[in-house]
Amino acid sequence: MNTYPLYINGEFTPAESSATLDVVDPSTADVIARVPDAGAADVARAVRTARAAFDAGPWKDATAQDRGRVLFKLADIVRRRAGALAELETRNTGKPIVESEFDIGDVATCFEYYGGLATKIHGDVIPIPDNAMSLALREPIGVAGQIIPWNYPLLMASWKLAPAICAGCTTVLKPAEQTPLTVLELASSFADAGLPPGVVNIVTGAGETAGAAIVEHTDVDKIAFTGSAEVGKTIMRAAAGTLKKISLELGGKSPNIFFADADFEAAVEGALFGVFFNQGEVCSAGSRILVQRPIYKKFLDAMVEKTRTITVGLPMDRDTKMGALVSREQFDRVRQYQEIGKLEARLAVGGGRASGAVLDRGFFVEPTIFYDVDNADRIAREEIFGPVACVIPFDTEEDALRIANDTYYGLAAAVWTRDIFRAMRVVKTLRAGIVWVNHMQPTYVEAPWGGYKQSGIGRELGRWGVEEYLNVKQVYINLSEQPIGWY
Ligand code: NAI
Ligand code: MG
Repeated sequence: MNTYPLYINGEFTPAESSATLDVVDPSTADVIARVPDAGAADVARAVRTARAAFDAGPWKDATAQDRGRVLFKLADIVRRRAGALAELETRNTGKPIVESEFDIGDVATCFEYYGGLATKIHGDVIPIPDNAMSLALREPIGVAGQIIPWNYPLLMASWKLAPAICAGCTTVLKPAEQTPLTVLELASSFADAGLPPGVVNIVTGAGETAGAAIVEHTDVDKIAFTGSAEVGKTIMRAAAGTLKKISLELGGKSPNIFFADADFEAAVEGALFGVFFNQGEVCSAGSRILVQRPIYKKFLDAMVEKTRTITVGLPMDRDTKMGALVSREQFDRVRQYQEIGKLEARLAVGGGRASGAVLDRGFFVEPTIFYDVDNADRIAREEIFGPVACVIPFDTEEDALRIANDTYYGLAAAVWTRDIFRAMRVVKTLRAGIVWVNHMQPTYVEAPWGGYKQSGIGRELGRWGVEEYLNVKQVYINLSEQPIGWY
């Protein structure tokens, strides 16, 4: 069994204390590795080295071309190591290997995109009514603290690291307790990619200790967090102590809306893919499926029939369409919501643990559909983060929009219809940061990602993603050599 150290100042290094966290394969419940349960002293050491690399060098003097080349090299290395990284990701998360392969491909693409963007961060020249020149320079914000979740471990690391490196920041990144392995593995290639010591530091540990220490540290300039809304609020409060900049990508209860005129086959598959992809452990999961009354019964029946064909299986099997949930804790949480749902609404399919000889040791649940759900029910309001769908009927476009927007969240939404006028009206009225039309979930590094309302603050990906790591400096240059003549 592998026991990993921390990665600080360009080297693997032990933590101050010998306390460790067990890392588990959720398909078997076996412990597969251990990582340090780092504390405030380890965080302080990581921040110190990140601070020094930013303030003094070598990162301070790296050019945009240098930073871009590092990112391109990282992309190449990820592609070269893709097979092993995908396998490790699947062992640690329980997600199907086929999905991990897509994730790792997206990791490489993310580094590549920001490699290209590094040389395109431009400032402005502002016309001002004087014999002077006004500039707006865009500078890296400094040391970024980055805290990420377990549903897409290496992909979430790349969404954080790539724009930070692109902007010229240095970082201290804390992976989720459950899934620290792939980013630690990738760290062994940071030097090969030309990343100087101290620029990226990886500290493993619990959220309440290591995570909180990053958020509170006075030398950290910015926090980027992805995870639960509850912890997002805690971080926002804690960041107020030092007035850090924050970006938060939190959860959702995203509506997936089906009008009667939608292409039926595509719609049924879109409803299932929207909520069951990655075991439903997706912040943008289409967990509220709104179906117009004329097709409601037929649509539900078709969903159920297709759900019965979804192969819940061992994550390394290439035929598996749904793997294990990430942890016992998440398994218990989802099981609990399955029981709550049985009291609140009507169960169409699933509703329990997925069993069978090979599944009994792991954290597998059945893909589950509840129908005749009331939007006020707990299963329709609270993020479940598992393969549990709520089907809700509606009559008119106004009804659909009212139900869709009746949530504290606002991460994503989707609408299915062949009526272009209706599609555009719905797009305009939905209060969500991401809206898909006749699809749900495709995500591109080029396009902005983030939430309205309690789904977050700021945007990741695209040119929006790098803005979160930049400060704006206004510069005034006097072109007149005369005294101003005021006195
Ligand atoms: P969480 O929000 O507690 O954990 C996410 C990250 O935050 C982890 O790295 C954790 O160590 C860190 N963290 C936790 N408490 C912290 C604190 N006080 N200060 C700083 N960092 C802290 O998520 P958890 O408990 O694993 O899952 C609970 C629920 O959160 C899920 O059921 C799901 O609903 C939601 N969630 C949403 C995600 C998203 O992508 N929006 C991702 C993961 C979970
Ligand atoms: Mg938590």
